[in-house]
Amino acid sequence: MTASSAVIARPRALIEGDSGLLSGPVAKNAAKASLRSLGVEFRSNDGAATQVLQDINLDIANGEFVSVVGPSGCGKSTLLRVLSGLVPARSGAVTIDGRPLDGTPAGVGFMFQRDTLLPWATIADNIRVGLDLSAARHDPAAAADRVRQLVSFLRLSGFENHRPHQISGGMRQRVALGRLLAYDPDLYLMDEPFGALDSQTKQLMGAELLRVWAAHRRSVLFITHDIEEAVALSDRVVVLTSRPGRVKLDLSIDLPRPRDLRELKTNRRFGELCELVWNNLELQN
Ligand SMILES: Nc1ncnc2c1ncn2[C@@H]1O[C@H](COP(=O)(O)OP(=O)(O)OP(=O)(O)O)[C@@H](O)[C@H]1O
Ligand SMILES: [Mg+2]
Repeated sequence: MTASSAVIARPRALIEGDSGLLSGPVAKNAAKASLRSLGVEFRSNDGAATQVLQDINLDIANGEFVSVVGPSGCGKSTLLRVLSGLVPARSGAVTIDGRPLDGTPAGVGFMFQRDTLLPWATIADNIRVGLDLSAARHDPAAAADRVRQLVSFLRLSGFENHRPHQISGGMRQRVALGRLLAYDPDLYLMDEPFGALDSQTKQLMGAELLRVWAAHRRSVLFITHDIEEAVALSDRVVVLTSRPGRVKLDLSIDLPRPRDLRELKTNRRFGELCELVWNNLELQN
């Protein structure tokens, strides 16, 4: 996958065109994304089938932040790939805004664990990649303004002209987040975006993401191995079984917002919710 394909998109102009169509009754009441009895299997060269996901039922409401945890290999990344149109469902139904998924959906953006920044491009240009997929490409002054806003919002001021190798891992992930924000999808698919970061930077990035989410209120499907991170950030945490991944627990996180991630550590309810998730997590196979 190329770096720029990390943002899976059709031009914003098309998305806006689509959302005009989507303003009818179906879209209004529909979940942002919905999986019904989803099954996915992969076939090896000798024809042997491996069932990866089985009978997954999951809705992500508009503006909702949902995390998915589960043992390694249970199909979490596959779930995101299905929603981004990269992997076909073997059975069941997948809808975005109430419409059956057909190819690569508009308004869906992807962020990976390892940043996929363009190594030769500056920080500002890496963020601009998101805009280049949007209508803003036709208005360079507005695009430059938007990049400046994002650089400032993500506390990257002064590093606009650095290259990715000249900034820290946490800053690189902020740039990757900036690229996603520049594109501004309606649904953020995030595959362990902070998994490679140390715990302190991870917490700072979590706070950053919540700040972004509170300001933009997009729908987020967030994959992580970190239970505390899942509980701290989310409206719901979904626990998958080991492969084939099935939904074992779909837990509402009844912690008030806004949340102070550091204070949460000593919150009794937070501890209970983390334990509940832990208790439902199967050992890796
Ligand atoms: N394109 C593919 N072809 C064949 N098998 C695949 C393919 N993609 C994933 N798999 C298999 O599907 C299973 C689930 O993979 P997936 O990457 O979704 O797991 P995961 O839950 O994200 O794991 P991890 O937590 O380690 O990232 C694995 O056994 C993997 O080998
Ligand atoms: Mg994965």
